[in-house]
Amino acid sequence: MQQEILVTGATGNIGSILVPQLAGLKGVSVRALTRDPDNARELAECGAEIAVGRFDDKPSLAAAADGVDTLILIVPPSAECVAHNRNIISAAKKAGVRKVVRISAIKAAEDGPTENTRLHGECDRLLQESGLAYTILRPNYFMQNIFMSLESINADNVFYAGTGDGRLAMIDVRDVVDCAVAAATATDFDNQALEIGGPESISFSDVAATISEVGARQVAYVGVSPEDLEGALLQMGFDAWMAGLLREYSTVYGQGWGDLITDGVQRLTGKPARTFRQFTAEVLAPALV
Ligand SMILES: NC(=O)c1ccc[n+]([C@@H]2O[C@H](COP(=O)([O-])OP(=O)(O)OC[C@H]3O[C@@H](n4cnc5c(N)ncnc54)[C@H](OP(=O)(O)O)[C@@H]3O)[C@@H](O)[C@H]2O)c1
Repeated sequence: MQQEILVTGATGNIGSILVPQLAGLKGVSVRALTRDPDNARELAECGAEIAVGRFDDKPSLAAAADGVDTLILIVPPSAECVAHNRNIISAAKKAGVRKVVRISAIKAAEDGPTENTRLHGECDRLLQESGLAYTILRPNYFMQNIFMSLESINADNVFYAGTGDGRLAMIDVRDVVDCAVAAATATDFDNQALEIGGPESISFSDVAATISEVGARQVAYVGVSPEDLEGALLQMGFDAWMAGLLREYSTVYGQGWGDLITDGVQRLTGKPARTFRQFTAEVLAPALV
């Protein structure tokens, strides 16, 4: 029997890798939620069924969840994310979905030190109290976030961050995807919450050294204060909520919040997590000019 998997946030960082991977699996049919089908053309070409909907439009979520066995729940950070998670979890429950794999965030907790940590903690609890089977994945900082600095790396061989010497066990999004696939297609991890991260805890000075070595160019990390980072993001056009979120994360990552090596990726996928060096060689280097 075919397993019908619905992915929300399907055109984003995780979903755009996850949906084609699921579409290539035997015995799986994948449905991808987007607000705009134009964003999902490549996903449709891979064989995904496209569902058009929004997290604040309950009828569209009911239609997207119809006939679904497993929901992979990805909701971008926003002040409305609790309502968004509530709407889709409720639609899944009404549609008879068996299990939800939710992408949360590192050390999500309702008494955590950043607003996003607390909101994820609340959303995790909503799911845990829903009566649905679940696996909650709590990833560390994504290696792919360095793409936000691609322009300055390519133009000036420099990037900026507000984490000082803080070390992070950053994770390759491809490992987040592999974990989500494993959790969605097996029952071994039902009703568990797992912290997932990379195999080493590194600072942004280490990141600069690896990009310099693998990319055969000298790239520098320039540390700025979390407050100056927020100011620069506001000038670049980020909304105040997102700029504040990145300030808060920079502060706590600078204090060691991301310095957490776990065996989550190995346990879920049976493979070691990818290193930053692998990520640089395979994903970042082709984008360096
Ligand atoms: N970045 C990190 O370092 C990190 C680390 C740990 C955890 N996380 C967590 O990972 C999650 C984000 O994953 P991601 O980066 O893959 O997502 P993303 O790229 O930020 O966004 C995913 C997609 O969500 C869709 N979307 C936005 N608003 C929507 C709405 N109102 N209704 C329906 N769809 C909407 C958009 O697609 P369309 O425009 O096509 O609709 C977007 O492409 C967050 O929960 C975040 O906290 C991130």
